[in-house]
Amino acid sequence: MKDKYLYIETFGCQMNVHDSEQMALLLADMGYALTDNAQKADLILINGCSIRDKAEHKAFSQLGRLIRLKQKNHDLIVGFGGCLAQHLGRKVYSRVRGVDLVFGTHNIHRLPEMIAACQQARKKITRTDFSSKITSLNIFAPPPRGSISAFVSIMQGCDNYCAYCVVPYLRGPEMSRTPEDIIDEIKKLVQHGVKEVTLLGQNVNSYGRKLNEACNFVSLIKKINDIDGLERIRFTTSHPKDLSDELIDCFAGVPKLCEHIHMAVQSGSNRILKLMNRGYTAEDFLEKVEKLRRVCPHVSITSDIIVGFPGETEQDYQATIELMEKIRFDLLFSFKYSARIGTAAQNLPDDVPKDKKNRRLKDLQDLQNKHTQEKHTALEGSIQEVLVEGRSKNSAQDMMGRARSWKIVNFNGGLELVGKLVNVEITRGYLHSLRGNMKEI
Ligand code: 5AD
Ligand code: SF4
Repeated sequence: MKDKYLYIETFGCQMNVHDSEQMALLLADMGYALTDNAQKADLILINGCSIRDKAEHKAFSQLGRLIRLKQKNHDLIVGFGGCLAQHLGRKVYSRVRGVDLVFGTHNIHRLPEMIAACQQARKKITRTDFSSKITSLNIFAPPPRGSISAFVSIMQGCDNYCAYCVVPYLRGPEMSRTPEDIIDEIKKLVQHGVKEVTLLGQNVNSYGRKLNEACNFVSLIKKINDIDGLERIRFTTSHPKDLSDELIDCFAGVPKLCEHIHMAVQSGSNRILKLMNRGYTAEDFLEKVEKLRRVCPHVSITSDIIVGFPGETEQDYQATIELMEKIRFDLLFSFKYSARIGTAAQNLPDDVPKDKKNRRLKDLQDLQNKHTQEKHTALEGSIQEVLVEGRSKNSAQDMMGRARSWKIVNFNGGLELVGKLVNVEITRGYLHSLRGNMKEI
């Protein structure tokens, strides 16, 4: 039988990356081998993201480019999936001619069946219905060979309905996997050589809320901490309103939990936070940060901020800047507001002019770069525990790994260190990484 090749391109968050890993695994069972050369592919899947309009445009322009390969290969199948497909459904076909299948976020497990049908009948197949079960999450997808770190989805969907956000409409209501399924998956990953897991959910702090058994995120983390062979636990993302004192205490009391938390603040203005339906004030957020730092002084805190939300005045923006100055995040992901179809904020006038949004974003990013650089410089001379992931992108003599804080560390070393925990003395803090010398294994 002829070898069949699959080319997948993924846009957006870690959840989409993990969904693509699951797609690749399911299709491997149908005989598709992954390729990074789209020209060679028999099946192309685009896993698109619709959280912001920039991500949506990127996915569509790539789809437009790849669909042209059909002119040379008439048997090529092109599928469009992920939350963007969930969002647009059949509209994808009129935006880009030639797409064969469109599948939503709850339909990954049905891909083999869809592709088989497409191969037989060459008719368009659309699956964007929501399921009341979390079938897709239970697909065991080992990360690429040799991976040291893996994502594990512990829940799906979101019930928060922040005014700007499409996720609840695209990934459905919040549902948690059982602790048994999660532990089983992590044990299997450890058998595949994985040393670090990142637990994924739109709001991991509310994990377990709808499960029958008494289990919350803290009890889950403690169970995972007991898994032999696993070295590190991370999680993302945390909603500030649900960050409990018990979870904060885990940063001191659960040895494998890395000292890093990603907690999106979105704005420093209480007026805007209220319009965003976030359920906390800037003062509440600051209090959580102070608690975190009391329990774990070196905890690394990263966040997301949106500038130019409808009605954001210069004063609101300044409140965000003031909060950033008070907190000094380790890293920040910042975005210009873009209206998304179906969200509450879509009914508000998108009234912050484009040039103002650009200027606010640029100033905020400059400030964050200053904070990040200062934090990285302050780490010079410190010893960081690094989990070695592989060769550094910058130099063939260097290895790269992450410190417990999630910061990238490059140092001189060989491939035999992959998967090992090493101590590295930091000699230089750059904006995007740290550099150092290995002390000992
Ligand atoms: N416009 C801009 N940024 C958004 N985000 C989510 N929705 C929007 C939107 N409509 C950002 C938030 C969120 C991150 C994943 O993306 O900051 O935390
Ligand atoms: Fe979107 Fe808010 Fe849910 Fe995060 S918590 S996914 S921002 S609705």
